[in-house]
Amino acid sequence: MSDTLVNFPAANGLSAGQPFSDPMASTPRNQLLALLGMQSLLVHSVTAAARLKLADMIGEQTLSLTSLAQQSQCQPESLRRLLRALASCGIFFETEAGYRNTPLSAMLVTDRPDSLHGWACFMGSEQVNRCFEQLDVALAEDGPVFDKLYGQSFFDYLGQQPEARGVFASAMTSYSASGIEDALAAFDFNQAGKLFDIGSGLGKFLSGILDANPQLEGTIFDLPEVIAEVEKQADRLNPRLAWQGGNFFSHIPAGADTYILRHVLHDWSDEQALLILRQCRKAMHADGQLLIFEHLLTGRNQPDYAKFLDLVMLTFLTGRERSEAEYQCLLEQADLRIDRLIKTPGFHTLLVVKPR
Ligand SMILES: C[S@@+](CC[C@H](N)C(=O)[O-])C[C@H]1O[C@@H](n2cnc3c(N)ncnc32)[C@H](O)[C@@H]1O
Repeated sequence: MSDTLVNFPAANGLSAGQPFSDPMASTPRNQLLALLGMQSLLVHSVTAAARLKLADMIGEQTLSLTSLAQQSQCQPESLRRLLRALASCGIFFETEAGYRNTPLSAMLVTDRPDSLHGWACFMGSEQVNRCFEQLDVALAEDGPVFDKLYGQSFFDYLGQQPEARGVFASAMTSYSASGIEDALAAFDFNQAGKLFDIGSGLGKFLSGILDANPQLEGTIFDLPEVIAEVEKQADRLNPRLAWQGGNFFSHIPAGADTYILRHVLHDWSDEQALLILRQCRKAMHADGQLLIFEHLLTGRNQPDYAKFLDLVMLTFLTGRERSEAEYQCLLEQADLRIDRLIKTPGFHTLLVVKPR
């Protein structure tokens, strides 16, 4: 069974992998037809399965349609149709006796450390749908369509909408989980000293780094409303983790040997990213370091997850995905330099950054 759900088709449309294993998609015409017909419904099917927590219900067993329908309070025939569609893409597996998890559907189980449940819920959310639906409008607009649709910026909106804030925070936590392993494989945190994760979200990432390095201490820093959520869930975090609320545009606390900016700079325009980097530089001591985890854009025509993530930034925020040269240019303006560039086993590249 393939672990690859979506292969981004290359520009020529012929040599690239198919969007999923669809025998119909053997010509460019049919390949595009399959993409147009199925990709967005595939996202919503996964979101529906995530919201209903079907993967949790199935767990390690084979569960009959009747039990699954009872537990999820769905109409059995409709649920069967959803699962049939998902199983055609390797998400759940149909048998005579019922349904089993596959490696892909098992990623939706909520209590596994690398769960993608939160990400699946966010990608089918109302905010994502409304913004993506306006992608063509975004191309002509100056500024994100999110602000026009919701009357305020994405992070201001989250500040006022606890439910949406929870969905987004858990999407980010989903993203963090696999990132911990990748970061530990790419970088030896042993000598990192005191750590500060800036724009940390709920703190899962730094907590995981502390779990693996018992001598380290760290602090997470995010907006006060996010830190209020962290306090409520403190028992899930490493006891050596502290937290602090604030605004990274106006002040980043000094006192750490290693600062982390993970998925933060890509949220912001060059001007705003530069402000954050300058605050970071101000907080760093001469021997300090900054670890930036981002997706670096690849060259023309290369299949690249970051090229689509960039469109999320375009519609939601003022940010963008950047190439190595673009990061280098920003860092120089903040009196910082790239010391090392490490490709992690996953999607991210780690820029190890030092004062110039
Ligand atoms: C894309 S998320 C990344 C979260 C986390 N670093 C991760 O990798 O999962 C960006 C984070 O920046 C935080 N943030 C946004 N504006 C901020 C500000 N002005 N000051 C501090 N944190 C902010 C958000 O609350 C959010 O948690």
